Amino acid sequence: MRVQVGIIGAGPAGLTLSLLLHRLGIDCVIVENRSREYVEARIRAGVLEHWAAALYDELGVGARMRKEGLVHEGIEIGINGTRRRIDFKALVNKDIVVYGQHEVVKDLIQARLNHGGRIEFEVSDTSVHDLDTDKPKIRFKKNGESHEITCDFIAGCDGFHGICRPSVPKGVLTEFERVYPFGWLGILSESPPPSHELIYSYHDRGFGLYSMRAPNITRAYLQCDPNEDVNKWSDEEIWAELKRRLGPDGEKILKTGRVFEKGVTAMRSFVTEPMQYGRLFLAGDAAHIVPPTGAKGMNLATADVLFLSRALEAFYKKNDKALLEGYTKKCLSRIWKAQRFSYFMTTMLHLNPNDSEFDHKRQIAELDYVTSSKAASTALAENYVGLPVD
Ligand code: APR
Ligand code: PHB
Repeated sequence: MRVQVGIIGAGPAGLTLSLLLHRLGIDCVIVENRSREYVEARIRAGVLEHWAAALYDELGVGARMRKEGLVHEGIEIGINGTRRRIDFKALVNKDIVVYGQHEVVKDLIQARLNHGGRIEFEVSDTSVHDLDTDKPKIRFKKNGESHEITCDFIAGCDGFHGICRPSVPKGVLTEFERVYPFGWLGILSESPPPSHELIYSYHDRGFGLYSMRAPNITRAYLQCDPNEDVNKWSDEEIWAELKRRLGPDGEKILKTGRVFEKGVTAMRSFVTEPMQYGRLFLAGDAAHIVPPTGAKGMNLATADVLFLSRALEAFYKKNDKALLEGYTKKCLSRIWKAQRFSYFMTTMLHLNPNDSEFDHKRQIAELDYVTSSKAASTALAENYVGLPVD
């Protein structure tokens, strides 16, 4: 079979790309090694930058997000018990939407299928070939049968552990990485969050984040060891620690409830350069990872595929290859700024076991500055709601 664009991976990057291409009249197929049920249930973060929420509206997939998503006009930052608000609306006149990534994925899949689009779920043995020719190919197996798709272009949207990045010949890509000496223990619970906005809390016992998925569903995280065994934490211990890290009123304002999801995530920053080889274009987690403290993962994936769709449009409509050739440069300029912001938020808010007392004092000064200076809180707000995608 033949398509213009073959997409590997049905995460936010691959699915959003398929809708962007559909709007441009460019045909594509998605191949995904997991089942539809699996990708629709995979729990990830849940913050949509201002422009990303607007893009979902434009693509006709925003209805449920607008109904069930929670619009936030700011965040709170805790500093050992005191809390200060960063008012996005007042500082940069923008807001964000809190809406689980797996809900976004459900909406995107439904829209793609409603358009008559093809998603091949539960494939195996995916491989890519002839990347340096103008007829790159995707091979995979499904129900025991081998398939081959000949494409004009391949979009590698297969996440950090996918096959696209490792298929680029040795020596082409350079990888930049930072691994942090901590992780996050995350829970979902049937209980209202302590505030109607997110609380990012610095505490001498470690970082805590208090988020939500709905007015009666809390999503909360505790800084922990990256190799922490989640089973060693009883629900009671998790609640006690979450209360402590909120500060003196934690006991009063944090309501407990049935915990129905628990997991540990390690934290890393990672970028690969370039993000293209021949006719293979990497997008989203396949090309970069950010620690979740800046809430940037899904938004970066969405920005990459928006840039890629503009480049493919120029190619197909005007036979202009300049945007395709400039894809890496265009993406990386925004990605490195998001890396910078994610690193800034992460190092400002976590206790690093390798840090000295000097570093702790500097951290407190940084938190105080960021939450009291209009210039500094404007910079935080501008980055949090999302840098431009022009
Ligand atoms: N063949 C087909 N599909 C694959 C393969 C393969 N060999 N390997 C991985 N995949 C699929 C995965 O099952 C997954 O559904 O590719 C998809 C990649 O999706 P994500 O990991 O969600 O990555 P992306 O779409 O770039 O979205 C980035 O997801 O990881 C979070 O925090 C991250 O929010 C960010 C967002
Ligand atoms: C979440 O709600 O899961 C979430 C929110 C903000 C973050 C990370 C995760 O920075």
